[in-house]
Amino acid sequence: MSILKIKTYPARVLKETAKAVKSVDGRLQELIANMSETMYYANGVGLAAPQVGVSKRLIIVDTSYREEGGSNLIVVVNPEIVYQEGDVTAIEGCLSLPRFTININRSARVYIKGLNADGNPLEIEATGLFGRALQHEIDHLNGVLLIDRLTSLEKQNISYSLQKIQR
Ligand code: NI
Repeated sequence: MSILKIKTYPARVLKETAKAVKSVDGRLQELIANMSETMYYANGVGLAAPQVGVSKRLIIVDTSYREEGGSNLIVVVNPEIVYQEGDVTAIEGCLSLPRFTININRSARVYIKGLNADGNPLEIEATGLFGRALQHEIDHLNGVLLIDRLTSLEKQNISYSLQKIQR
């Protein structure tokens, strides 16, 4: 396994719509292993493949060590939100926007379908930090960053700090 370099704003790959994974093979599993090592190393609760420069629909999430101190890696290949309900606002950060935390409104409950790391069908119902992290990572597959969810006024207020990231 190896720790991968995390792409930060304004890297081009973060703005792209990621492509569907065609087969869950050894190469993809190697990417999953490297992404998980990278996520734990960076102290993140989730990571999407575009964040390590791979424009594929693959996300990993582990909120258990924040919530319970355990470890429970969730891998979703080609994730799809099939149903969502409710609204909740909470503070979020992103490994691709270092030092940023922003209040973001998300669905309170999501139902997600996809494939697991073995290529088998997977269904998840998620709330709380877990549900939020899944929605955040799926945004990455659609080229959406936290800053894209801000109003133009909110964007103006953080523009100076954004320029600092770009430098
Ligand atoms: Ni992120």
